[in-house]
Amino acid sequence: MSQQYQHDVLVIGSGAAGLSLALSLPGHLRIAVLSKGDLSNGSTFWAQGGVAAVLDDADTVQSHVEDTLNAGGGLCHEDAVRFTVEHSRESIQWLIDQGVPFTRDDSASADDGGFEFHLTREGGHSHRRIIHAADATGAAIFTTLLAQARKRPNIELLEQRVAVDLITARRQGLEQDRCLGAYVLNRATGEVDTFGARFTVLATGGAAKVYLYTSNPDGACGDGIAMAWRAGCRVANLEFNQFHPTCLYHPQAKSFLITEAIRGEGGLLKLPNGERFMPRFDPREELAPRDIVARAIDHEMKRLGVDCVYLDISHKPADFIKSHFPTVYERCLKFGIDITQQPIPVVPAAHYTCGGVLVDQHGLTDVPGLYAIGETSFTGLHGANRMASNSLLECFVYGRSAANDIIAKLGDMPMPEQLPGWDASQVTDSDEDVIIAHNWDELRRFMWDYVGIVRTNKRLQRAEHRVRLLLDEIDEFYSNYKVSRDLIELRNLAQVAELMIRSAMQRKESRGLHYTLDYPELLPEALDTILAPPTYVD
Ligand code: FUM
Repeated sequence: MSQQYQHDVLVIGSGAAGLSLALSLPGHLRIAVLSKGDLSNGSTFWAQGGVAAVLDDADTVQSHVEDTLNAGGGLCHEDAVRFTVEHSRESIQWLIDQGVPFTRDDSASADDGGFEFHLTREGGHSHRRIIHAADATGAAIFTTLLAQARKRPNIELLEQRVAVDLITARRQGLEQDRCLGAYVLNRATGEVDTFGARFTVLATGGAAKVYLYTSNPDGACGDGIAMAWRAGCRVANLEFNQFHPTCLYHPQAKSFLITEAIRGEGGLLKLPNGERFMPRFDPREELAPRDIVARAIDHEMKRLGVDCVYLDISHKPADFIKSHFPTVYERCLKFGIDITQQPIPVVPAAHYTCGGVLVDQHGLTDVPGLYAIGETSFTGLHGANRMASNSLLECFVYGRSAANDIIAKLGDMPMPEQLPGWDASQVTDSDEDVIIAHNWDELRRFMWDYVGIVRTNKRLQRAEHRVRLLLDEIDEFYSNYKVSRDLIELRNLAQVAELMIRSAMQRKESRGLHYTLDYPELLPEALDTILAPPTYVD
């Protein structure tokens, strides 16, 4: 039997953004936080690098703002950048207050005004400003926030719940639109339950799983972006997919990132013959922004016909490597690579979705009562290329800002009345799951080949043709068979892929992460690519 639930706030996604929002709401609100799998399956847990923030006395808000604008290729919204950076210090203090065990700086002393935590560097940053917990920052943050959430009786943490679609007033035939909650598959019962909520928050992460090779965990399927689109929200700049330059290249290593902080601490990129190549591409060398480093690696791999390049930190003392990068050290050792002695084989892989659901400074979307935060959203912070470690910061700043907006609007949003249950009367159990598996593979393969680091008109046209066919097939499948996690994710991923391709086709220039051989130049004016669904009402 499917169930009906009512909560003040429904948070879809249990990563950094969702948990920080839930923890910033008052204790009298009933909050549900949903996770598609186990709570720790999201991207936050796997983040290695850290959180960018202005914490050192020698650093300034202006400098962090300028670095972000430079990396963003002219497309960052300066107000969003300033808002985020200005709130960076208090966000870090909030995390410290929650108990996040950031790595301390042994050399700092209170007498000389030194900041007590260690700050590392990453590409594009002109200062040391990444606060981190060794090379497992995401795990430290996630574990701490989850422990805090477990202490709060008003927060229900629900695992194995896959949101299928949002419930909106307009879909219920009402004129005045607002979000009323979501239909959610309970994987334990196989039923689709109805979650009514005064406020709904999409904190589902990005869509890097649309590519064959990715640093992301399995759930990064663009669920929130696709659901918001179907509910009538605009999306922006989905052509900007960030490829992390250095993921471990090893046949048994699935999606393992080699943190950029290794380059921040002196790691060098080398060709198989040991020659460095980044100085030929950018004066910032290994610490150039990610788009430049990933393209340089792609170029060298294609030029030489090699499967990978190498990242070498073995010139640093072994103790330093082991204490700063214990996760990378251990994982590589498992594959027979001792990073204190040998270079690490690396390749670029899809890492971050810079575009997303268009929101304001409170994370509010086009539909009243519906928020999007973290990688799901488009705030204007990242522009055409996200600067390393700005994304976790965005999760905390916007998570807390959305919470404040919800608090301010509590009086305006009554609990939705009884909502219609999910109608499964027309569908049967699928006997053709092979179609889902095949479509998954096909989608991720052609996105990698045709909508990857280097694009052309022809490749994009091919991808567009294929994604339309897939969308038709998936629609038919969805109308006839009971939903499963795989089907829900495939439907979302194909929808987001279509939006990415459409956005890429609209951009007739090369800017930031969008590089096309047909338009290698930069246009004089930097414009966002904003797409509106047919259901969007201005
Ligand atoms: O390289 C890294 O540790 C990743 C950082 C980021 O994506 O912000």
